[in-house]
Amino acid sequence: MSAAFSLAQQVALLTGAASGIGRATAQAFARAGAKVVVSDVQEKGGIETVQMIKKVGGEAIFIACDVSNPEQVKSLIAQAVAKYQRIDHAFNNAGTEGHAAPLHESSTENWNTTLGINLSGVYWCMAVLWLCNPNAAFVIGTEIILDGGWCSK
Ligand SMILES: NC(=O)c1ccc[n+]([C@@H]2O[C@H](COP(=O)([O-])OP(=O)(O)OC[C@H]3O[C@@H](n4cnc5c(N)ncnc54)[C@H](O)[C@@H]3O)[C@@H](O)[C@H]2O)c1
Repeated sequence: MSAAFSLAQQVALLTGAASGIGRATAQAFARAGAKVVVSDVQEKGGIETVQMIKKVGGEAIFIACDVSNPEQVKSLIAQAVAKYQRIDHAFNNAGTEGHAAPLHESSTENWNTTLGINLSGVYWCMAVLWLCNPNAAFVIGTEIILDGGWCSK
């Protein structure tokens, strides 16, 4: 485990970390020495991410959470803080592309589900986290950033 900089003693929370960009970023945080809270709706993939981190000497736990559900987000943050006492970094990566279709053929359900995860999910995570630590470093959301959005701090 080595990285160009150290996040030792710091805690990173990542949503959508059961696969893809979230998993790779969780591994990068761990390589930098951070304790990693891996979260996702997919338990199997989330646990695999934790196992990959632990296998190379890192520290991580998995906490299941659907980011579109504010009660589950509150529970996620509460469990993470109970385990590690702090959260320094948040990577709001959970997201969906929804069902690709011409707008006039897209369903209301598809619209609501996509916004619930990609937009409201980031809001719930940030709203709860900000209460815990106003000085934390946040990446607002992979979906928003890759679509030309912004990154905070
Ligand atoms: N805008 C773009 O061009 C672009 C390109 C690539 C990826 N992305 C976004 O980047 C992020 C990661 O991409 P990826 O390629 O690794 O995708 P991915 O599908 O491998 O990862 C997304 C993860 O989010 C999880 N997830 C989905 N809904 C969730 C929910 N309600 N609560 C918690 N977790 C949930 C999934 O289980 C999955 O593990 C996604 O948000 C994706 O939409 C955007």
